[in-house]
Amino acid sequence: MYEVPDLETDHPVRSSEIRIYGLDEFDGMRRAGRMVAEALDMIAEHVKPGVTTGELDDLIREWTLAQGAKPACLGYKGYEKTTCISINHVVCHGIPGDRVLKQGDIVNIDHTVLLDGWFGDSSRMYSVGAVNPRAKKLVDVTYESLRLGLEQVKPGNTFGDIGFAIQKYVEAQRMSVVRDFCGHGIGRVFHDSPNVLHYGRRGEGAVLKPGMIFTVEPMVNLGKPQVKVLSDGWTAVTRDKSLSAQCEHSVGVTEDGVEIFTLSPAGLFRPN
Ligand code: MF3
Ligand code: CO
Ligand code: CO
Repeated sequence: MYEVPDLETDHPVRSSEIRIYGLDEFDGMRRAGRMVAEALDMIAEHVKPGVTTGELDDLIREWTLAQGAKPACLGYKGYEKTTCISINHVVCHGIPGDRVLKQGDIVNIDHTVLLDGWFGDSSRMYSVGAVNPRAKKLVDVTYESLRLGLEQVKPGNTFGDIGFAIQKYVEAQRMSVVRDFCGHGIGRVFHDSPNVLHYGRRGEGAVLKPGMIFTVEPMVNLGKPQVKVLSDGWTAVTRDKSLSAQCEHSVGVTEDGVEIFTLSPAGLFRPN
């Protein structure tokens, strides 16, 4: 029914150094990033009470294949779905299936496409009907933390500056940043160097240079930062069962700042 990606050709090995792409190569990322953003736009109207996460995953898979792109998660390290869908206290890597969405859920959908050799990776939060004020606040803080992290992306700053900005803001809101998962280099490789931490200290880590391409994807918990992975080997949940939220962009460092490849053409990145 659908083609399982070829791991040999689709996933070149992770490099130990941070790759620098030519700025003329950014066009591949613009196209892959736009496609994943359009998929996340497309799904928005389907995220409502009664739908299952498996149905949402089917819609995104079929849409992506119809565009001529490959769902990059499908077959990646044995993962059998197109997206990760993480609800409420699920931090990340929730596996789509029979779970029925209900009013009040906060839902992250994370999708990655491979288009013409370029990976575009993004995730957003969706609210199912009205959500309680604490959940709304968590989602708002998570988006603002990503915005503040991306504000640090410019040549001469360091990866530590990104993590510091995110952590400082989140903790000032009395919430916590997950440590066990991070962003990553991306481009022609899905998960490349470096690990992009969402916490850290100013001035630490590698210096940002034009041509670097990576994701920033903070996971924020209402309670403590600790997570555990369930026996399915994927689903990560908060240990204290507190709510968790995440959002992700794929970005490139330009001569004077940042280019976000996964902006929503429909202006739907943030839930209302
Ligand atoms: N899209 C995720 C990320 O942000 C990766 C999901 S893991 C997979 O890096 F196995 F589902 F691909
Ligand atoms: Co992702
Ligand atoms: Co990612």
